[in-house]
Amino acid sequence: MSDEFTYAESAAAFILRQTPLRPRIALVLGSGLGGFADELTESVKIPYAEIPGFPSSTAVGHAGRLVIGNAGDLPLAAMQGRVHLYEGYSPTQVTFPMRVFGRMGIKAAILTNAAGGINREYGQGALVVMTDHINLQGQNPLAGPNDDRFGPRFPDMTHAYCDKYREITLHAARRLGKPVHQGVYAALLGPNYETPAEIRYLRAIGADLVGMSTVPEVIAARHMGIKVLAISCVTNMAAGILDQPINHEEVLETTARVRGDFVALLRAVLPEIANDVA
Ligand code: HPA
Repeated sequence: MSDEFTYAESAAAFILRQTPLRPRIALVLGSGLGGFADELTESVKIPYAEIPGFPSSTAVGHAGRLVIGNAGDLPLAAMQGRVHLYEGYSPTQVTFPMRVFGRMGIKAAILTNAAGGINREYGQGALVVMTDHINLQGQNPLAGPNDDRFGPRFPDMTHAYCDKYREITLHAARRLGKPVHQGVYAALLGPNYETPAEIRYLRAIGADLVGMSTVPEVIAARHMGIKVLAISCVTNMAAGILDQPINHEEVLETTARVRGDFVALLRAVLPEIANDVA
């Protein structure tokens, strides 16, 4: 058995030596959404390359560092950028940061991503709270021998996306006057955007959103009993929904545009999630 657990413990100890803060909430900030972590105070910023065992990200718009700092008086661990399976990383590498969070004592993870909108009720720039996922990546971070120190062989995924956190988020969004949607996220390997036929297929099987991330991390988080909130930013309508090509610049432009709403929403939900994991 590979000793992912021991590596995760060493990386967790390495990180906790750099700060007196002991966060119980982690944020994984996707494409273009990493800026929130720059606003944390009393922070340490650790490039992924310096953390033993951490994979470094190659995607444009992903800074690749871990920020531990305070939002108000709430300590957080925030990943600015993540790595993806399409970059050639193994599922174990992709989920290693989540494993480290588990060993650091993180109890709740908030994951964000850029996604294509399949549900026609969404518009470009919509924020969508994930209710569930469909794993079509053909890979699973739990494949291989199970390490019972992380969690059980056959973890339940019925409530992978915490109902209470979704409610908290929907209420917060209404209070802010920027209602959010809910939907099912289908994860594909990528890196190409989907074909229109693939999007028709995804719609038929019940997907509202499509993306290339998040699902491996959620599976690893749930394996360890970490509660999950996941929010997608619809950066573009999925292939064939509108008759126009999709490009990465558009994805980054949209995240830049909704950044303010997104940060406001995060700030509103964080204290309530902190109460839950106190
Ligand atoms: N498809 C897959 N992943 C994405 C998309 C998309 O249309 N937009 C942003 N990430």
